[in-house]
Amino acid sequence: MPSTVIVGTQWGDEGKGKVTDLITRDYDYVVRFQGGNNAGHTVKHGERKLALHLMPSGIMDEAAIPVIGNGVVIDPGVLVEEMEMLEREGISCKNLRISCDAHVIMPYHKDFDGADEKRLGANKIGTTNRGIGPCYQDKAARKGIRVQDLLDEKIFRLKVETALSQKNPILERIYGLDPYTVDQVCDEYLPYTRVLGPLVTESSQLLNTALREGKNILFEGAQGTLLDIDHGTYPYVTSSSCCAGGAATGTGVGPTAIDKVLGIQKAYVTRVGGGPFPTEQRYAEDGGSPEEAAAGELLCTEGQEFGTTTGRKRRCGWFDAVIARYAAEVNGLTDVALTKLDVLSAFDTLKVCVAYECGGKVYDYFPMQQSVLFHAKPLYHELPGWKGTDISTCRSFEDLPEAAQAYVRYIEEASGVPISIIGVGPDREQTIVCGWKS
Ligand code: IMP
Repeated sequence: MPSTVIVGTQWGDEGKGKVTDLITRDYDYVVRFQGGNNAGHTVKHGERKLALHLMPSGIMDEAAIPVIGNGVVIDPGVLVEEMEMLEREGISCKNLRISCDAHVIMPYHKDFDGADEKRLGANKIGTTNRGIGPCYQDKAARKGIRVQDLLDEKIFRLKVETALSQKNPILERIYGLDPYTVDQVCDEYLPYTRVLGPLVTESSQLLNTALREGKNILFEGAQGTLLDIDHGTYPYVTSSSCCAGGAATGTGVGPTAIDKVLGIQKAYVTRVGGGPFPTEQRYAEDGGSPEEAAAGELLCTEGQEFGTTTGRKRRCGWFDAVIARYAAEVNGLTDVALTKLDVLSAFDTLKVCVAYECGGKVYDYFPMQQSVLFHAKPLYHELPGWKGTDISTCRSFEDLPEAAQAYVRYIEEASGVPISIIGVGPDREQTIVCGWKS
């Protein structure tokens, strides 16, 4: 059985959680490889909905071993809290494994995140304020503190002391914020090792041994292609490698160990935070025309497009085939799971962006110049909708109304990747499996 990477193909929030839950049972290990508690997805546990931020969703399946890979940044307080919440719900975290090389989000990272955003004013990125960017910044600058450092009090103290000698003057003099003492940080962080210490492991070795034993690994991406630090809409991105390539560097397995790349593609597009979004249907408060605002509001309410981590109302827009083609290439997608098709049942007609126009030039590929993307006018192809038909009970492709079949086939052709899973509602059963094999 193959190893699979799940990646978001847009700006995150494509519904990766539901697809991951659906196929987790086919895998022995479920591994997070990047990001941190900026991610968020809701999983169903009986009648209750639980919000996970750091935990791989494999935690919900007793048979799978959930692993937090070296590419993840960990806020230990958040992880311990999440584990306590899960244990209260009767979900054991004893199988969880945490990479000794993952970096630790420190209190000053959160301070810098908020302060930097404030300083940027109207140009702010719209981060989740969880300290993600500043933590990756220290990692790249070789000044980070890793999970393994937490295991040795002497080393941890020394590292905190060194870090604070550099961070405190910046906090105080540049941002006008309070400095930290070494004791303050150590008193907060060292107790977490009682819970996390026994779970820390050399995860590359763990996963490579598993592969040799013929086990299957699911690499669970967070955020999405256009938030990738290299391939996204820089600088309006997150600070990690969200694309499929990140699964190798973020866990320590070679790229040849990856057999399938399943791209999660929402039937329309959403984005949170700032940055260009060519097919956005702006809300009235953001300057949208009445027609745009009506489409945006309908997508938001029908799709329940509010952030799991921040509660923010997401920006919504029509499906963008230019983005879909780009995501297919940079991730090497082998399959697509199309999610939330049912949300489009609210519309008379549907628009799909096939190219952008900017400065008299037509772009049918993703323009890497940020200025082009900011001013891009989407060129749409309009398709008939299936308004009024409830598709949430469809369980095979043939069950879908003809217009919905045509919509799926159209975007499949536009991106060039087979759509092998279709989501028609929030529940696990509300899914059409049309070709996916784990
Ligand atoms: P950061 O990851 O908190 O630094 O935020 C950087 C950008 O990524 C912001 O625009 C965030 O809104 C966005 N972002 C981060 N995590 C997610 C996510 O899980 N879903 C959607 N957007 C995200």
